[in-house]
Amino acid sequence: MNYPSSIIFQHQISCKIWNWEVFCSFSRTRPFLVTGATGYLAKIFVEKILRVQPKVKKFYLLLRAADAKSAAERLRDEVIGKELFRVLREKHGASLQSFISEKVTPVAGDISYEDLGVKDSSLKDEMWREVDVVLNFAATTDFDERYDVALGINTQGALHVLNFAKKCVNVKMLVHVSTAYVCGEDAGLIPEQPYHMGMAKKGDSKIDINFEKKMVQEKINELKLEGVPDKEITSAMKDLGIER
Ligand SMILES: NC(=O)c1ccc[n+]([C@@H]2O[C@H](COP(=O)([O-])OP(=O)(O)OC[C@H]3O[C@@H](n4cnc5c(N)ncnc54)[C@H](OP(=O)(O)O)[C@@H]3O)[C@@H](O)[C@H]2O)c1
Repeated sequence: MNYPSSIIFQHQISCKIWNWEVFCSFSRTRPFLVTGATGYLAKIFVEKILRVQPKVKKFYLLLRAADAKSAAERLRDEVIGKELFRVLREKHGASLQSFISEKVTPVAGDISYEDLGVKDSSLKDEMWREVDVVLNFAATTDFDERYDVALGINTQGALHVLNFAKKCVNVKMLVHVSTAYVCGEDAGLIPEQPYHMGMAKKGDSKIDINFEKKMVQEKINELKLEGVPDKEITSAMKDLGIER
């Protein structure tokens, strides 16, 4: 797998290149790893597959959590317990819990870390052995996020997902969902075109991620050394995010 051509950039699940029928049948035989499952898009995706394709093989849902217990609680309260799953609840009745337990494995993790921050090594090995399809919906969607946090999740995080997918011996597909074309100040007809490493959306500028990471870290160190309070560091990092 070569980066970045192996990644399918998509705006929305409904994007034309997504052949839903094929994808649904795919899900019958292939275990999926889905990140960002408490979020808007991933939750809709998971619910739809579970509803229209009850023979789905298995979902590993990565949830930002410290341990398995908290991940299971987030799955129950913030995913399955939501109104969105009402039709599934009505369909399965009392057996919903066993259906979910059979089809869905919550995974505690955080994409801003190597190996997606998954500490449970036997579960990690199982995913590397089993997972065929990786769908990355995890992101910070806060428009004025701290620059260091946004870089850690939306840039480094995407790379961690790619590296994790490479370790899945059976991987057939990696889908990275993001919002590539909202950035910048273009006007008129904006064609969708592939972006290459180093290309920036802002003007003709180039972007060097290692430079950005270094610059952010130096800025934080400088502010800390000056004894700037955390609240002001947050504010400075948000300003830097908007500026970059
Ligand atoms: N919504 C749209 O209409 C739309 C349209 C086009 C593109 N997109 C793009 O699609 C992606 C998902 O959008 P969304 O609307 O579903 O976003 P969202 O509702 O804000 O959900 C983001 C998800 O990512 C998770 N997440 C954030 N940081 C994480 C981390 N470090 N590790 C693991 N999980 C993390 C969040 O978990 P927590 O609950 O722990 O915060 C949440 O589950 C984004 O890239 C967005 O730009 C969205």
